[in-house]
Amino acid sequence: MTLKFSLSDTPPESTDSPCVIVGMYSDGSMSAAATRIDKASAGALKRLFESGDITAKLGSSSIFFGLAGIKSGRVLVVGLGEKAKFDAAAFNRAALEAGRALKALPIASATSCLVELEVADRDAAWKLRTAALAADMHAYRYTATFKPKDEPKTARLESLVFTSTENKRALSEAAAIASGVRFARELGNLPPNICNPAYIADQSMAFAASHDGVECEILEREDMEKLGMGSLLAVSRGSANPPKLVVLKWNGGSKGAKPTVLVGKGITFDTGGISLKPGAGMEEMKFDMCGAAGMLGTFVSAVELALPINLVCIAAAVENMPDGNAYRPSDVLTSMSGQTIEVLNTDAEGRLILCDALTYAQKFDPEVIIDAATLTGACVVALGKHASGLMTQDEELAAQLLDAGNHTLDRAWRLPLWDEYQSALDSAFADVANLGGKYGGAITAGCFLSRFTTGFRWAHLDIAGTAWNEGRKGLATGRPVPLLTQYLINRCA
Ligand code: BES
Ligand code: MN
Ligand code: ZN
Repeated sequence: MTLKFSLSDTPPESTDSPCVIVGMYSDGSMSAAATRIDKASAGALKRLFESGDITAKLGSSSIFFGLAGIKSGRVLVVGLGEKAKFDAAAFNRAALEAGRALKALPIASATSCLVELEVADRDAAWKLRTAALAADMHAYRYTATFKPKDEPKTARLESLVFTSTENKRALSEAAAIASGVRFARELGNLPPNICNPAYIADQSMAFAASHDGVECEILEREDMEKLGMGSLLAVSRGSANPPKLVVLKWNGGSKGAKPTVLVGKGITFDTGGISLKPGAGMEEMKFDMCGAAGMLGTFVSAVELALPINLVCIAAAVENMPDGNAYRPSDVLTSMSGQTIEVLNTDAEGRLILCDALTYAQKFDPEVIIDAATLTGACVVALGKHASGLMTQDEELAAQLLDAGNHTLDRAWRLPLWDEYQSALDSAFADVANLGGKYGGAITAGCFLSRFTTGFRWAHLDIAGTAWNEGRKGLATGRPVPLLTQYLINRCA
């Protein structure tokens, strides 16, 4: 369950909340709410700043208990850094820090006064949504595969109140995006022995069953054989877990309006196949289904918002394993499009499942097709872990997606898909090879996909760097759900 969000206009010093959150800039200047708390507590915040207990640095926070004159038992002061540099990214950072601090407290609800902070070019609705999503990002806990614990003795954060004027739309957007992000994160975090292709199919069916107006169809191996998906099926051949192609539909738009089709890479575990990956770090490849999870999460958000569009979500759920029956380097596959593909590396499997899913997407007569995939390590080398790679030959679509990413701070950065890169995929034995040359691996992977979307408005998001956080304890991020949900919201405006 996501946090519950609500609004209140009670002054911060007299609000009856377990915790009130206010901001302070690093020169000691205070927001309106912090000033009110300071006045009501006879200058307590000012003294705490002067004593150095509050540094007010961006990314820091301090908690104070039982301030005289303040009704709330706790005051959380979030550092905002330099006032002149306080922009959208800084606001998000402060809101995330508030969420991190809240998670550590034994309280069920809190009141945030952060929405009043001035942020250039961002309105109250944006601040409300951003603060809500930041809190929910931290409030999420992964518990699915731990021994069930006794009921926690202390309360856990369940709801967040914002001191802000009427803005129901922003709150419902925050709640919907939070649901989609959580849906994507949970699928991403689950281990590959649980979250296999059948599990993704079951979760999609369960979502459809519990939401009016959502249809779900699962294409089985035999269905895909009939469709001629020789490329996707080759990748699945080494696995004991049969592949599933999940198709979800939401018809919120007018009858006959062309749908937006979302396609996600759902490799539930990527061993590399016969081109086996090295052992170190292979466990991270449970996240190789985060493209599918992100598209399903975006679908969840869109349905929760009942967006007036027609939407199709296709999740290609496949496991890439080595086996006596596995596909091999040098195999030539025939894709659903009819194009043949020379396999040069079985670890470049994402593009092989996506190409058939992208061909299948075309049967819906799409307005636009967008895919998301943890496609290449090269994308992480190029852009690091902050930006998703965006590739498209459609200028308008590029602008819309970049804009949605900038708005939500779930940002993407464009890489070119110029024709000059295409020859890297030349093969002496098939129409195309599944591997480019030494350089520009994210781009040549995008070029491969582009050959299966000719004549369509299409964009590709490489989320290899952004879909999960690094390290032993790194969790799925839920990206690109915020970016794509915003894109869909903007399309409806
Ligand atoms: N799932 C990986 C890409 C990946 C690697 C994502 C590391 C995140 C972190 C993908 O299937 C893959 O193995 N790509 C290869 C492509 C290569 C064989 C052309 C890669 O990036 O090394
Ligand atoms: Mn791979
Ligand atoms: Zn992969």
